[in-house]
Amino acid sequence: MRLPAIVLRGAGDPDQLRLEDVDVAEPGPGEVQIRHTAIGVNFHDVYVRSGLYHTLALPGIPGIEAAGVVTATGPGATRFRPGDRVAYITRQYGCYATARTIDEDALIPLPDGISDELAATHLLKGLTAYALLHEVYAVKPRDRVLVHAAAGGVGALLCQWAAAKGACVIGTVGGLEKADFALRHGCSHAILYRDEDFVARVNEITAGEGVQAAYDSVGKDTFFGSLACLAPTGHLANFGQSSGAVPPFEVSLLFKKSNSLSRMSVFVQLRHADHRREVAQQLFKAFAEGVLKPGPMQKFALAAAAQAHRAMESRARMGSLLLVP
Ligand SMILES: NC(=O)c1ccc[n+]([C@@H]2O[C@H](COP(=O)([O-])OP(=O)(O)OC[C@H]3O[C@@H](n4cnc5c(N)ncnc54)[C@H](OP(=O)(O)O)[C@@H]3O)[C@@H](O)[C@H]2O)c1
Repeated sequence: MRLPAIVLRGAGDPDQLRLEDVDVAEPGPGEVQIRHTAIGVNFHDVYVRSGLYHTLALPGIPGIEAAGVVTATGPGATRFRPGDRVAYITRQYGCYATARTIDEDALIPLPDGISDELAATHLLKGLTAYALLHEVYAVKPRDRVLVHAAAGGVGALLCQWAAAKGACVIGTVGGLEKADFALRHGCSHAILYRDEDFVARVNEITAGEGVQAAYDSVGKDTFFGSLACLAPTGHLANFGQSSGAVPPFEVSLLFKKSNSLSRMSVFVQLRHADHRREVAQQLFKAFAEGVLKPGPMQKFALAAAAQAHRAMESRARMGSLLLVP
């Protein structure tokens, strides 16, 4: 069977994302075939397309998150039946496609009440937020935490979940509309970092005490500022590099306030399928109970993946992006 998919033949600008017909393999032992209904677009996809990451063998189909329906099962695949709704994240790429064949262990069953669009746009972001808040630095009631890109996909989930755990959340945002969004999604304070020095503002808000944890996905532009915002024994959870890679630095910088630093990968943190499924259930429960509210979702046809990438790279956007085959 040949069906349309986005194929990246060489790294570069968004126009490198082109629609082609590709073979969809019959499911082998332990595999299932799924038809995608919604495909998440993540910042990771931009790193891959632009050539910052060389983790997808070219030519290749990008995409690390999707939802869909099982259409066929291979020998020995017993977890799912045709018609089951599923979602998944994967380091193997291949999500920007109409259909695919995949190891059944990768899949997470979707409960009623969680739409395909919600799952395809919030599974990766939600698992990331869960791992950061519960495993990398376990947020406690009355903690003060700093979240950069607080109106972004992962950022808004971090803010809401940290606030639900009783933390005081300070978010940084790139504009007034984002500040308003962040304040409605878990932040007690929203810092307009283009207008004010976020380190000075955090210092002021925390009366010089600093934050117990800083969740930093921006990287190059914020790393040292985030470090400066930490309280004694505070933790810096760097988990992305939207502004570029963090340059090499002296580890002894952590010594002054006995700080710690992590650089989490959700794929490594949640590498065991059982653990990932369990965390996904917690995530779906948090959405079902209204602890987490999804932000706006902007939809593009699969063929318009280049437009979606332009939207992703434009810092004007809020919420999440998805492709519909
Ligand atoms: N480690 C992991 O396992 C893992 C998993 C998932 C995601 N991530 C990372 O989490 C981050 C957020 O992902 P997301 O998909 O939810 O994206 P997002 O936060 O919705 O978008 C990125 C935001 O970062 C801010 N930003 C600051 N400097 C920027 C720059 N130079 N260029 C572009 N944006 C900049 C912008 O918000 P403002 O306008 O408010 O500044 C922008 O909207 C990404 O860095 C991603 O790689 C990591």
